[in-house]
Amino acid sequence: MSAPRFTATDHGLSPEMRAAFETDGYLLIEDFVTPDMCDRLIARANALVEGFDAAAQRTIFSTKSVAHAADRYFQESGDSIRFFLEEEALDAAGNLTRPKALAINKLGHAMHDLDPVFSAFSRQPRLAALARGLFRDPLLLQSMYIFKQPGIGGEVSWHQDSTYLYTEPMSCIGFWFALEDADASNGGMLAMPGAHRGSLRKRFRHVGDSLITETLDEAPWPDATPVALNARKGSLVVLHGLLPHYSSPNRSPRSRHAYTLHVIDAAATYPADNWLRRGAHLPLKGF
Ligand code: FE2
Repeated sequence: MSAPRFTATDHGLSPEMRAAFETDGYLLIEDFVTPDMCDRLIARANALVEGFDAAAQRTIFSTKSVAHAADRYFQESGDSIRFFLEEEALDAAGNLTRPKALAINKLGHAMHDLDPVFSAFSRQPRLAALARGLFRDPLLLQSMYIFKQPGIGGEVSWHQDSTYLYTEPMSCIGFWFALEDADASNGGMLAMPGAHRGSLRKRFRHVGDSLITETLDEAPWPDATPVALNARKGSLVVLHGLLPHYSSPNRSPRSRHAYTLHVIDAAATYPADNWLRRGAHLPLKGF
């Protein structure tokens, strides 16, 4: 099963898009950004990786082992630009088995406020217009650049983004840009249409100096048939914070670069025990 598609316009959220988002919990909008815009963001991410000292800092990001959660480098990345490695990029002794440009899992989590190229991409008028249809007062909370490297791109297990970016009431929406073609062969996403109407199952949050995953609801995922969010380069996928989604490992020779921006509503409460934190020097901003 593949997802219904919309074509991007500069006129924000159409009534048809709103209806589909409410029904399915996602939107797949093709040609939202141009191939050139994708290429400029890819080049900027690669330039940032050039400046990363992989010998000094080796934090793996994996949704299977959660060693990163105990790592201050990860815990304190909410107002920084930090570099996380693919689990399979290190040998048993902890040494990189490939060049760092092919070993990086992701960058996070404040490029949209700290890097001018990422800020301009994140605050492009077309996206701001779309977000105005989804939020009363949007705040740009988190950015991630995901490399999904050829051969070793890590699996991202089924989850809801509100597990990680929790507000009361729930307001998190993810904007996921395919910077390269993404499909089943290179770790494209799957989602469960309509399952955003269920409960939030887990919260990932601080308890003292640790990060824990708290189970809020033991209910299994619904028996929905997953839909493949196959996305051509330049597509935008909008994801409701409660929508369960997944991406497989990338065993193909192609990378699958993607950029995600997560937005919350300023009127919602952002609890102090959320994992992602910012210092007072970098307050959240809108578009
Ligand atoms: Fe996600």
